[in-house]
Amino acid sequence: MKIPLSAPDITEAEIEAVVAVLRTSRLSLGPVTEQFEAQVAASVSLPHAIAVSSGTAGLHLCIRALGIGEGDEVIVPSFTFIAAANALRYERALPVFVDIEAATLNIDPQRIEEAITPRTRAIMAVHNFGVPAEMSAILEIAARHGLVVIEDACEAIGAEYQGRKAGAIGYAGVFAFYPNKQITTGEGGMVVTADETLARRIRALRNQGRYETDDWFQHSELGFNYRISDINCALGLTQMRRLEEILRKRETVAAAYHQRLSHHPHLTLPSLAVIGGRISWFVYVVRLPAARRDAIMRRMLDAGIGCSRYFAPIHLQPSYAAWRDLGNLAVTEAEAKRTLALPFFNNLEIEAIDEVCDVLEELLKTGY
Ligand SMILES: Cc1ncc(COP(=O)(O)O)c(C=O)c1O
Repeated sequence: MKIPLSAPDITEAEIEAVVAVLRTSRLSLGPVTEQFEAQVAASVSLPHAIAVSSGTAGLHLCIRALGIGEGDEVIVPSFTFIAAANALRYERALPVFVDIEAATLNIDPQRIEEAITPRTRAIMAVHNFGVPAEMSAILEIAARHGLVVIEDACEAIGAEYQGRKAGAIGYAGVFAFYPNKQITTGEGGMVVTADETLARRIRALRNQGRYETDDWFQHSELGFNYRISDINCALGLTQMRRLEEILRKRETVAAAYHQRLSHHPHLTLPSLAVIGGRISWFVYVVRLPAARRDAIMRRMLDAGIGCSRYFAPIHLQPSYAAWRDLGNLAVTEAEAKRTLALPFFNNLEIEAIDEVCDVLEELLKTGY
């Protein structure tokens, strides 16, 4: 791709940090993993952070450690990344998909209550694209029905909602560090929580079910290998030290797109800001007329411009055939036909933004 959809921002500091770990004998379960955990915990003002091999692993461990299992229902948007629902199914729990608000593309709190049944155990609040979900309403509904709130903050590290950090508002939160994310470890994730017992359990489950007092060949319960290496964590730690700089760079790119495209009659742009909060920009998603989205996307890809439909609804995936005909996800299905993520990364140059916008505007003009 001439202009990729995403690109990691790796400086000499990251490279040096990774090489420094390689010169030691502690490549996993070492001090750099602990430092990375401490850095993320401090960034969200929580006492516990557990680094894991991916965001998916982090979500799975939350579900497992909370004892959510066979037949339990968890409320989750369908308009999000599939891992949010897969994490439930790994434990034979059932995703109950709730529609989104067209304005924010996040779960619609007004639709949550009608989806609650006696089997509902939790709400998975996802901060899509780094835009904080309506946590006050979600927490209030959860409290009224005795439900746990898990935050899928995989796309939202650094986002804020009413003075609190995304990921630190519910009972547990999960971040992800795939290379398209704001902060990367190559592959990796992090669970954050205020609950010490939950944190201990997740630490044990991450490491083959070994409790803190267990030796290497003592496995107190069925666990997983969801560890992350110190090599990955060195990258993540160095990136986390640059978090504010990275968030600002991304805000600048979003603002440049906004300025350039805001008067286009056929485009709906994402809001640049949220009241009382902060967006941690993950992707920049515009909405086109549904009938034209796929043709325009193909043309842009042909022109070497990375772009993608974000998201394909989970309930329409082949692996979710049993959920296909729900009929209650009209906004999800309508909006998913219109979305197009444009190239978006820290160091995207203004000339490249102009080129993306030129191509997009030309396609819109010529009737594709
Ligand atoms: C909303 C959401 N949830 C979960 C994940 C899973 O994270 P990972 O890819 O690190 O497993 C992602 C990452 O793409 C995501 O965007």
